[in-house]
Amino acid sequence: MNILILGGGGREHALAWAIQQNPKCDRLIVAPGNAGIARIAECATLNIEDGGAVATFAEENAIGFVVIGPEAPLAAGVADDLRAAGIAVFGPDKAAAALETSKTFTKEVCDACGAPTAAWARFDAAAPAKDYVRAHGAPIVVKADGLAAGKGVIVAMEPDTALAAIDDMFGGEFGAAGAEVVIEEFMEGEEASFFVLCDGENVLPFGTAQDHKRVGEGDTGPNTGGMGAYSPAPVMTETVIDRAMVEIIRPTVAEMAKRGTPYQGVLYAGLMIRDGQPRLVEYNARFGDPECQVLMMRLGAQALDLLLACAEGRLQQARVNWAEDHAMTVVMAAKGYPRAYEKGTVINGLDSLPEDSARMVFHAGTRATDGKITAVGGRVLNVTARGASLQQARDRAYEMVGQIDWPGGFHRRDIGWRAL
Ligand code: AMP
Ligand code: GLY
Repeated sequence: MNILILGGGGREHALAWAIQQNPKCDRLIVAPGNAGIARIAECATLNIEDGGAVATFAEENAIGFVVIGPEAPLAAGVADDLRAAGIAVFGPDKAAAALETSKTFTKEVCDACGAPTAAWARFDAAAPAKDYVRAHGAPIVVKADGLAAGKGVIVAMEPDTALAAIDDMFGGEFGAAGAEVVIEEFMEGEEASFFVLCDGENVLPFGTAQDHKRVGEGDTGPNTGGMGAYSPAPVMTETVIDRAMVEIIRPTVAEMAKRGTPYQGVLYAGLMIRDGQPRLVEYNARFGDPECQVLMMRLGAQALDLLLACAEGRLQQARVNWAEDHAMTVVMAAKGYPRAYEKGTVINGLDSLPEDSARMVFHAGTRATDGKITAVGGRVLNVTARGASLQQARDRAYEMVGQIDWPGGFHRRDIGWRAL
């Protein structure tokens, strides 16, 4: 079968790495891909947010299955266009992707199905939003309603921070995403990511992970897309997983089906766990990046069978074969990230690294120019390893990090500290 993956980050490199190990995969194309992906698959230039163009490309290349990595094509309705063209696709329709693209939509779904989440209110003007903050006090959380690349959330420990965030959001700091603002109760606890596959009706738990959103060691500094992750997440015990399935995931999936917008694809629940009780922080309609890298490292080739079963409505019979293993990924980012950073710095030492089923460097923002790998993004490399224990996975990952010679980059040295 010919397979097309949309996206060009570390998440898509990990998906490509797992998928191309499966004998069912004949030809693998990734659009746009990156320098790391180009070593294991064909890379193609394609506007991945144009559903018509993607469907035409898929037909021309006899693609039997399309895997959508990032949220932008989902929000643009690319999955809808592919399904309309009769092409199997992994990823929800535009209407179902609203679980990620609209925070108010998700809150309404949670309220309708009784899923535990933070108390909330929605505002389309600054004055009533500020009154609400003054009435409730801090800590309190202010969120731009739409997609803001993970940057539209302010966890305010002081009321003044919340009031300033409200001014910023209605002042246009997040563009259209800030036209509506959601204000939420601050939830205390430990965060974890829970991934499930849904085929519209059936749900298959697909693994747990924890990431490190802050740029600095000890979880300090500004938020990023994620500086490292590991799987499984110790806080996600079997009891917590069962509760999340019964109280949050299954009710959500049933509610989506009831609304006529069944959810197909991976549903990524960001959970806050306190005293064994999970509550929903947010949903994403795609795999986490870098969480996907640790999930794929643990799953290997079977990932393709599971994603296909999901797309074809066969999840009822599907099963994940987990080994008793752990994986960790350390993100190497360009100095300055998540603020301004330099592009074009050269990375050396990648060629001499061992790459096997337990060690991989997934590329995010890289380009190959004149035989050299250069950094062209903020998050650039995901140094990923598997082991019998989290400690072993960690040691293997940091050993590789130590061999990468990239003066223009930095990484956190404490990934996994909470679990170790
Ligand atoms: P989100 O984009 O909604 O996942 O929010 C980004 C981050 O802000 C989350 O991963 C949490 O760390 C934090 N956060 C969001 N909402 C809340 C909340 N209601 N209580 C506490 N922390 C939150
Ligand atoms: N690592 C967080 C995300 O992908 O949203």
